[in-house]
Amino acid sequence: MNYIVVKTYEELSTRVASIICGQIAMKPQCVLGLATGSSPLGAYAKIVEKNKAGEVDFSNVRSVNLDEYVGLHGEHDQSYRYFMNNNLFKHINIDINNTYVPDGCAEDIEAECKAYDELIDRLGGIDLQLLGIGYDGHIGFNEPDTYFEKSTHRVTLDSSTIEANSRFFASRDDVPKTAITMGIGGIMSAKRVLLIANGKGKREIVEKAFFGPITPSVPASILQLHPNLTVIYSEN
Ligand code: F6R
Repeated sequence: MNYIVVKTYEELSTRVASIICGQIAMKPQCVLGLATGSSPLGAYAKIVEKNKAGEVDFSNVRSVNLDEYVGLHGEHDQSYRYFMNNNLFKHINIDINNTYVPDGCAEDIEAECKAYDELIDRLGGIDLQLLGIGYDGHIGFNEPDTYFEKSTHRVTLDSSTIEANSRFFASRDDVPKTAITMGIGGIMSAKRVLLIANGKGKREIVEKAFFGPITPSVPASILQLHPNLTVIYSEN
């Protein structure tokens, strides 16, 4: 594991943007695994700047996102599809048809999960997976459990996750109770993983996940076994 501590969120975002753009320079048709949430926002803004400056070309890049709320369609302003379109895809020269987010409104959620894993296989696997980490150690929406769930699946969100995400909704009751998430198998099979965390509040879970025992009660801890893992933590 490559564990990097930086002083500021600005520095974290600069490093993430440069790793992602470096990945694209190495393999222009790469498959990026992308995350939503507050942590990658700074990096996404920097990537947009680099793309506008002609420093990185997304025309052949494919992307697969980690997760989506069940029941929210892509135009809902709290859906992860909407988040990705508005914080990244609309502002760069990626072909929107090459961007994939699980369909939270699919009629058959189980079939959608299976199709998502098949899609990742068809794309040739993920070259670089970007992750945030939840206060309970979740990655994607893989919540603490008694086992690691391998495949893309439907998950019931923990109350702490609903609480954390309620800041984006009119009320706690409006937060969807279930989501589709890429499984631990999909994340672990990415060729390279980059996990980012910022703020003093994340320090405890970062230490638990990367310097404590590997256990499904801290889902991110499995990443200690990944052969190409970088963790970047900024205190501020
Ligand atoms: C988002 C995701 C989540 C977040 C995590 C941290 O697609 O999969 O696991 O990465 O909840 O969220 P933030 O960055 O808002 O602290």
